[in-house]
Amino acid sequence: MWKKIFGGKGSPSDSSNLPLFDRIDRERLPRHVAVIMDGNGRWAQGQGLIRTAGHTAGVKTLKRILKTASDIGIEALTVYAFSTENWKRPHGEVDFLMKLFSEYLDKELQEMNEEQVRIHFLGRMEGFSEALQRQVRQAEDLMRNNTGIRFNIAANYGGQDELVRVMQTIARQVAEGKLSPEAIDEQTVERHLDTYGSPPVDLVIRTSGDMRLSNFLLWQAAYAEFWFTDTNWPDFTPEEFVEALVEFGKRDRRFGGLTKK
Ligand code: FPP
Repeated sequence: MWKKIFGGKGSPSDSSNLPLFDRIDRERLPRHVAVIMDGNGRWAQGQGLIRTAGHTAGVKTLKRILKTASDIGIEALTVYAFSTENWKRPHGEVDFLMKLFSEYLDKELQEMNEEQVRIHFLGRMEGFSEALQRQVRQAEDLMRNNTGIRFNIAANYGGQDELVRVMQTIARQVAEGKLSPEAIDEQTVERHLDTYGSPPVDLVIRTSGDMRLSNFLLWQAAYAEFWFTDTNWPDFTPEEFVEALVEFGKRDRRFGGLTKK
């Protein structure tokens, strides 16, 4: 059973082995954390291994971070697993990643379900094999009514692609006379995003040194705070995750207004 550090169901915090937990400001916890898990290839290279070994190691990190986020009581965790641009990678690497997603669902589904995780995929599922699409649907259906952390996996996902799909849906409704252009507002767009149902993204973490969004959650990150680290994703630890949350708690979020005195 995963421990619950703050509130939530399950047993309360016992001897947390992460002293940093004490430093998290419970009142200023991000509701939704999004992560660009970058640097798998560089990590592998650094170890003298082939690139795909970095992805395998990356899955281990992902498991730890999901558990930590759930323990802490984060409402939603979104991870960038495969972008619409990642198809440009060598076939062997793409195939490997597809197998890894499938294996991950096979191996982790039961435990995630027991822990009340609600898994959800963002992106164009039709780009994947029939078998993988079936697995994705089954996982989503199984966990639909769970009450724990919402875990979004962005796969074959691109923020621009997502917004194009939203625009197509809205344009269709206008063309059919079901919606007037004047009635379109931010909520209309929100309702059609892949992330619909998740709270707004509060914090975006990117590992491995690059400081860009890379077509990730373009709409959703409008008011997000950003936190970057040089650590490659396979070396990213729960301690560092907590460090990002601590830093988030100190940020002055004004949402275009002025700081309240
Ligand atoms: C970026 O590192 C990482 C990816 C493109 C894949 C991310 C996938 C995982 C962490 C594992 C699988 C995930 C799930 C949901 C099971 P990179 O390869 O671009 O690294 P580099 O920039 O150093 O080359």
